[in-house]
Order: sequence, then structure tokens, then C-alpha cells
Amino acid sequence: MKLLLLGSGAREHALAWKICKSSQLEKLYVAPGNAGTSEIAENIAMDINDFKAVGDFCVQHQIEVVVVGPEQPLVDGIHDYFEETKKLNHIAIIGPKKEGAIIEGSKDFSKAFMKRHRIPTAKSKSFKKHQIQEAIDYLEQKEGPYVLKADGLAAGKGVIIEEDLNRAKKSLKKLLSGQFGSSSEIVVIEDFLSGVELSVFIITDGVNYKILPEAKDYKRIGEGDTGLNTGGMGAISPVPFANREFMDKVENQVIIPTVKGLKKEGIDYSGFIFFGLIAVKGDPYVIEYNCRLGDPETEVIMPRLKSDILELFDGIATDTLSERDVEIDLRTTTAVMMVSGGYPEEYEKNKEITIGELDDKSVAFHAGTVIRNNKIVSNGGRVIAVTSYGKNIETALKKTYSNIEKIQFDKQYYRKDIGRDMVKKS
Ligand code: AMP
Ligand code: GLY
Repeated sequence: MKLLLLGSGAREHALAWKICKSSQLEKLYVAPGNAGTSEIAENIAMDINDFKAVGDFCVQHQIEVVVVGPEQPLVDGIHDYFEETKKLNHIAIIGPKKEGAIIEGSKDFSKAFMKRHRIPTAKSKSFKKHQIQEAIDYLEQKEGPYVLKADGLAAGKGVIIEEDLNRAKKSLKKLLSGQFGSSSEIVVIEDFLSGVELSVFIITDGVNYKILPEAKDYKRIGEGDTGLNTGGMGAISPVPFANREFMDKVENQVIIPTVKGLKKEGIDYSGFIFFGLIAVKGDPYVIEYNCRLGDPETEVIMPRLKSDILELFDGIATDTLSERDVEIDLRTTTAVMMVSGGYPEEYEKNKEITIGELDDKSVAFHAGTVIRNNKIVSNGGRVIAVTSYGKNIETALKKTYSNIEKIQFDKQYYRKDIGRDMVKKS
């Protein structure tokens, strides 16, 4: 099988690493990729939001499957472009069409969808630009914390949580007056839910689905979950509190109604669904849907997937997912993200990275790295995730932290408390 994988993060390096383990793989290209993917696949310098360029490349290189890592090309309709283009419509796209990607692309849509299908989620109401006064009146009836969400994609910055009513009103006005351009023309105001978050993933052909390992990510920059939100500072899998009883609730109350709901509404969904969940007193509530895998969650779930991922992709391409197996490694995996000093605010790039030999139970998944003058240098805020296996969280973490020391770059930073809150529970 010849594949093209789109994206350049540690999520894509972890996907590429898993794809490369398949005996069915003939050739893997990654666009644009990073220094890590260049070691195991062929990187292609290409703008992945330029669908014509992606399509032309696929024709020239007889690509059979395109795996879309990030959400933007999906929300913008890369799958639709391939389907509508004669010389491309035989190529399988792992990722939904625009009509399916809307579960991530519009929070207004996803909230209404959940209401229609009785999927547990926080109570909410949407407001348009001209409804500022109604939105303020709505906030005034509520108690804090106030949760405001820009409807569209906002590079992970579209959720604002304010404790104070006046600040919430200010943030609301800012959002509705175009803080995120067309993405915040509609704002969803949602009840605050208090609980523990986790991420659940499925792969689906629109009818059948397979549940992948769940994960918990650590979003804040500072230890003890403090400071600014980031793209993700680490992750663990499995999640100790996500026991059989809880996961049965997730499957019955969230996964099944979502897959059935999409089909019922005539949305032909194929690819991954990422359920951002919060457990409130043992019950799952959906915080958000994403139409792709998570980062850094992928760095802990790919290493736990024992089955051949190309079998699953083939199941999607040929609508035979129900015949494919998903076998999960029972060990724990933990990933810790090394970032550039200063991230998620200003930081320096172009720092030379030295990587020693890691233990066989650890893998370094590159994020913002690039090869310049034969050296690996940093090229982003999140730089490298170190994932390790262990029989429990403690042993996996110990491996991750001892291997992280073999990687060095100037002004590096990482959290030293990833997974600690879950240790006693594992
Ligand atoms: P999102 O960008 O949708 O992932 O949201 C960012 C973060 O905001 C989530 O990971 C939660 O921590 C938080 N959040 C979103 N919605 C709610 C809610 N209704 N109640 C409490 N926290 C929330
Ligand atoms: N880890 C959260 C995300 O990928 O959106």
C-alpha cells in the first residue's frame, strides 16, 4: 500500500511510526513531516491546505490512501475535493468530508447535534453577533464559572472560561465583535462542568466502529495543571478511572448515539472521532468532538495498538471495518512533551537537539523539529514527546523521565508531574 500522511506534529510521527510497522506498506510519504518522520518515511515539502498540490502529488506517486492528521484540511473539504475530482476519487481518505468534519468545525452544530440525539453534554445556548444583549441577559441569569466558546476553529484558543460575570461579559463582546474572525460570529455559552477529563477515540466507516485506547492529556504549561493552555504537555493511557463500567456508559450514551446520529442525518462519516469527555460523578459528558486524532494522545495510543493500522485503513476504504480486529497492548504508556522555553508565549527556534540512544521501551516522537545543515534543530513550541511503556503508570513514567534526559536542547522545558495525579489510582 502507498500512503500519504498529512501533518507535521508528534501525532503524525506516531502515526507514521505505527504505519511503518505494517507488512502491507510499500511506501509512506509525509507532508510536510518533521525530522522524526524523515528518518522512517519520505518527507514532501507541500502546503497541505493546497488541495490541488496534494491531489497532483497523489496522481504522480500512485497514492492509494491519504491519512489526514490535522483538522483544517478536513474542515476545508479535502475529502470532498478528492471525491469530486475524477482522477482522485479512487483514493481512500482517512478523515471525514466537510459535512462530517463540522462536528469539530462548528460548536453550534455539535451542540445542536448532541441535543437532537440526547447525548450527554453541558446545557448551552448559541448567540449570533446581533444578539449581544440577549447573550448578556443569558449570562446574567447564570452563575459562574462562565464558559464561552467560539463556534468555529480558533487554533485551540476558542474556549474562554471566566469566573467573574463582568469579565465574562467583556470576553463575550470581544468574541462577538470578531476576535476570531468568522469563527466567533456565533458564540456558544455553556454551563460549567466540574470533573476529570479524558479523551476517547474511535475509527469508523460510518456504520461500524472500533474503539481505540483512551487517554488523558495534560494541557496546561505549569505543574499541578497551572498556567496557560498549550497544545498538550503529556498524556497517559489507559486512564485508571475509565473502568469497564464507565467505558460501557461512554459506548452506550456517547459513541453509539453519535455514530447512529450521523448516519441518521445523512452524514457519511469515515475516519477518526475524538470525544473530549468529562466524567461528572461517574457519568460521561461530551465537552467537544474532534474529527481527527489528538495530540499528544496519539503518542500514547499508537504504541498501545497491536493490530495492523493499515488493516483498519483498508476496512474504511472497503467498508469492511466490522471484519477487522483491534487488539490493544495491556501495558501503560506515558508521553511527556519537551517544549521550547517560553512556550506557549514567545520562544526561540533553531536550537540544536542532541538525541542519545533511548531504551527499547521508549520512543521519541518529534513535533517541531527540522533538519538543517545535517543537524536536528527545533522549529516549534512543542519539540519532542518521549513515550515509554510500563506495567503501570509509575514504571512507564520512570522510563519516560530517565530517557528524556538523553535529549538536550538549549532552554528546553517539560512538566515533571505528568500522570502523577493518576498514579495512586492505577
Ligand atoms: P476545548 O478547546 O473545547 O478542548 O476546551 C478547552 C478546555 O476547556 C477543555 O479541555 C476543558 O478543560 C474546558 N472546558 C470546555 N468546556 C467546558 C465546560 N462546559 N465545563 C468545564 N470546562 C470546560
Ligand atoms: N489534545 C487535544 C487535541 O488534540 O485537541
